[in-house]
Amino acid sequence: MQKHTISRRHMLKLTSLAAVLGFLAPMSNISSVRAAETQEKKALVIYFSMPETDDPHNMTRDEANSTVVIDGKVLGNTQYVAQVIQKQTGADIFRLESVVPYPMNHRELLSRAQNEQREGARPAIAGSIPELKEYDIIFLGYPNWDADMPMILYTFLEQCDLAGKTVIPFNTHGGSRFSNTIQTIATLQPRATVIRNGFTVSRNVVEHSEPDIISWLRSLGL
Ligand SMILES: Cc1cc2nc3c(=O)[nH]c(=O)nc-3n(C[C@H](O)[C@H](O)[C@H](O)COP(=O)(O)O)c2cc1C
Repeated sequence: MQKHTISRRHMLKLTSLAAVLGFLAPMSNISSVRAAETQEKKALVIYFSMPETDDPHNMTRDEANSTVVIDGKVLGNTQYVAQVIQKQTGADIFRLESVVPYPMNHRELLSRAQNEQREGARPAIAGSIPELKEYDIIFLGYPNWDADMPMILYTFLEQCDLAGKTVIPFNTHGGSRFSNTIQTIATLQPRATVIRNGFTVSRNVVEHSEPDIISWLRSLGL
């Protein structure tokens, strides 16, 4: 896990999220803001991302579709968005990875994902999830897989209790945007406050999305 210290400036910025939440259209478990506006908020970015190559050169179309290359380094699309959010907010960051790694080959990856979805699999998460009780805000990021979240997100959401936390979804996609995933997150974590206007971006424009991510964060008061 990459650990980052949150500066006081960032902590204070995060406090204004609470003020904004009251203006967002509610889902069932999006409640109005508690009287916590004056407390400092600590944020964690948790994300899953599956770049289909780690070689920045001579990519196939599928490989290029799932990656952003920054300074010669290959990032997954969702990984890129996660890193921009992390950089902007000073949040800590944790990448969800499966104990059994996903194949980079596109066809094999599609097949594994479809099998997992059909079987309702709960792939085990590698490493240790950070101690969530330290955090008030969880940015939760994932690619759209088969009009849903990758099943490892279900593993996470079923094994962790996000009660009392604000969950801010973000995703990348090939056209399906969030599908129904925000409602699914809200259902799996009924005692969390799940933000409905998460950030979603097409893989076709993700490498140019930093200004949009920054505006979205500002719209949340972050
Ligand atoms: C297994 C698999 C299933 C996918 N299913 C969908 C889908 O149903 N709808 C969609 O819009 N994009 C779909 N995509 C495209 C991804 O959402 C898109 O490429 C995403 O940006 C990948 O993010 P990542 O690089 O962070 O993994 C799928 C990609 C994969 C690998």
